[in-house]
Amino acid sequence: MKAVFFEKPGGLEVLQYGELPTPKPQKGEALMRVRAAGLNRLDIWLREDKENARNIPMPHISGSDAAGIVEEINGEGPLKAGQEVVLNPAIPCGTCPRCKNGKSCELVKIFGVKNQGSYAEYITAPISQFYPKSQNISFAEAAAFPLTFLTAWHMLVGRANLQKGETVFVWGASGGLGSSAIQVAKYLGAKVVAAAKSEEDAKQICEIGADEIIIYTKGNVENAVKNLTNGLGVDVVFESVGEKTWGTTLAMLRPFGRVVIAGTTSGDMGTQDLSDIYVRQLSIFGARMGTKEEFEKVLEIVAAGKLKPIIDKTFSLKDAAEAQKRMVEGKHFGKIVLEIQ
Ligand SMILES: NC(=O)c1ccc[n+]([C@@H]2O[C@H](COP(=O)([O-])OP(=O)(O)OC[C@H]3O[C@@H](n4cnc5c(N)ncnc54)[C@H](OP(=O)(O)O)[C@@H]3O)[C@@H](O)[C@H]2O)c1
Ligand SMILES: [Zn+2]
Repeated sequence: MKAVFFEKPGGLEVLQYGELPTPKPQKGEALMRVRAAGLNRLDIWLREDKENARNIPMPHISGSDAAGIVEEINGEGPLKAGQEVVLNPAIPCGTCPRCKNGKSCELVKIFGVKNQGSYAEYITAPISQFYPKSQNISFAEAAAFPLTFLTAWHMLVGRANLQKGETVFVWGASGGLGSSAIQVAKYLGAKVVAAAKSEEDAKQICEIGADEIIIYTKGNVENAVKNLTNGLGVDVVFESVGEKTWGTTLAMLRPFGRVVIAGTTSGDMGTQDLSDIYVRQLSIFGARMGTKEEFEKVLEIVAAGKLKPIIDKTFSLKDAAEAQKRMVEGKHFGKIVLEIQ
């Protein structure tokens, strides 16, 4: 099959378009012909991983999001060959105490990290990870929502317990995760204040539902947030930027505020006056993808048209390096998708 892969970590130049063996579905797995694969920032981390800390298989095919057509099934279940499906990229271990209690898995694996991902004509995955694709959305849209909407839902609902009427601040609002978070927060009835790097982004961020925008490249974000909230601060901050924003994140929370973090795009290290956490009684939640039930909920709301995957641009599979370049350069708004014929 045709695939885009790399044999060692590095810059965009390590990405190769070529032939790799088509995977065979093992017992309990299905083979899907991929029609669209969504990009995530994770794909960049994997390719650039200089320490190879994640110990990924080489050659490696990236890609956690996929939509396509079932080609072959090796096992039982409701799937049928020829069916249009979308992949749930969060693969629970099924055996840890939390899995047994129907909670978010301690050891949840992201599709496309330890196994081969979706920048390819075919993928295999456990049968239970595939769900019927709604006819209301295209393959590209179906590959543009799973990882980010699932994570945003888990962050805001499963972890931060965002309530109707509360105010949430969203960093990284032009990205896949941030643009999903704005929609999830609005769906929940919260008020959204979002960060934008430019006037142009601000316009698009308003279009997807944000109530207030703060251009973070101009002026002091903490003061702007306080001005918008009668000096109080926000109830919840949605974090995925990390090092560059962490200080402001904690400063803009009101007493008893919560921050939920799922990424550190700008760097891993953040410093904090620890006394501030107990004096103002703040809570910090970490989040990683979500549960099967959360995926099913998100799928249902997307099918109903109440959460909309935002597609920035589509590329053909062979142009995956160009697609990643667009993400690295921060030119995208929403999701970049590879379309595979
Ligand atoms: N834990 C999980 O399960 C999980 C799941 C999905 C994603 N993530 C993590 O969440 C983060 C966002 O992922 P994504 O796929 O949404 O990425 P993305 O589409 O590239 O979005 C990242 C956004 O962060 C903002 N940003 C601020 N400072 C930045 C910097 N120094 N470098 C690059 N971007 C910067 C940019 O938005 P503005 O220009 O609007 O500020 C950018 O659009 C990543 O760190 C990813 O690994 C974690
Ligand atoms: Zn588990």
